[in-house]
Amino acid sequence: MFGKKNSKVSLEKLKQKAQWLELAETGIIKPYVYLRPENQIKRPGHLHKCDWFPWAPINLNPLDLDNLEFAEQILHLENTAFGPQAMPIPRWVFYDCGVLPGFVAGFAMKTSHLPEGIKKVMRHDPSKEWTPLSLFIMIPSMMPGEWIAHNLCAINSLVGESDRMYGLGFLSKAFGLWYANVVTCCGVTQWGNPALKLHAHFGHLQVVTSFTPVHSHAHSVTYRSQVDTAVWSLFFSKEKDLQFLSKYKDTSNVVDPKNNQTMIDLHQKIIAGQGPFFLSPFDLAEKKLTEPLIVYQPI
Ligand SMILES: CC(C)(COP(=O)(O)OP(=O)(O)OC[C@H]1O[C@@H](n2cnc3c(N)ncnc32)[C@H](O)[C@@H]1OP(=O)(O)O)[C@@H](O)C(=O)NCCC(=O)NCCS
Repeated sequence: MFGKKNSKVSLEKLKQKAQWLELAETGIIKPYVYLRPENQIKRPGHLHKCDWFPWAPINLNPLDLDNLEFAEQILHLENTAFGPQAMPIPRWVFYDCGVLPGFVAGFAMKTSHLPEGIKKVMRHDPSKEWTPLSLFIMIPSMMPGEWIAHNLCAINSLVGESDRMYGLGFLSKAFGLWYANVVTCCGVTQWGNPALKLHAHFGHLQVVTSFTPVHSHAHSVTYRSQVDTAVWSLFFSKEKDLQFLSKYKDTSNVVDPKNNQTMIDLHQKIIAGQGPFFLSPFDLAEKKLTEPLIVYQPI
């Protein structure tokens, strides 16, 4: 196992898993960046070697009034998806904490091509060329090279099986990380949220807090990953992560998403400096959302 590497998933292979990407070849779907001009990324995509995003993104200036409807649609998607979790983003937070300091990225579809199943749940305007299908909001942090993944959302969570686009949420975050040359990505989610399966596949996921009562949901986990495209491929290939297995060993700690005490116990160890602690991408991919997760440490 030592020294062996997992193979990378090429764009051609990716398109077999995420077949909707064929629509990107024909220009019906495109990645987008919704970013004020002063925040433009220098040399987008130059840091991480990845051939997954060869299409020029749609570049929208959020300050241009002609693009207001796009913001309304992003907010509509976000509020509909996060409403049931009691975390819809207030409009001023979207602007003050997302658009102003950072940027929004994702995929959009030509409005004229939206399937009926999406039109039923998604605000859309036939006079606008593009409708967003996903959003990933990123905010730069005070640590050089570190960004906060503030929000991730995909239309898949709102539509039936036949309208889902496999990998849309994952590829929206991957595109944002790639485009903005993100070295380190921090974020927050809740134990048991399907998003944790995605977040563990952008680089080995360190648990920064395992119990977070300062957040509105105390069972939130704060994570940090050093972005590594080698791990991205495993999301689609479902292979075991050979690098992870050679770098980390399991500990006697587990976090049970149904038991807050297990979160508090791990958190006390983090605060006492007994970490760092990590979660395995393969365990997360394999396990049900409600199953306890093994906690790992560097060997
Ligand atoms: C979480 C979210 C972004 C995932 O995006 P998505 O486009 O649905 O997911 P993707 O197609 O990229 O990935 C599919 C994988 O995600 C996981 N997944 C997604 N939804 C899941 C669910 N309801 N239950 C279990 N696993 C799920 C699975 O691992 C699946 O892969 P697999 O079927 O091969 O095992 C999306 O469901 C969403 O917008 N949810 C509401 C908002 C939210 O909670 N965001 C997370 C904030 S941290």
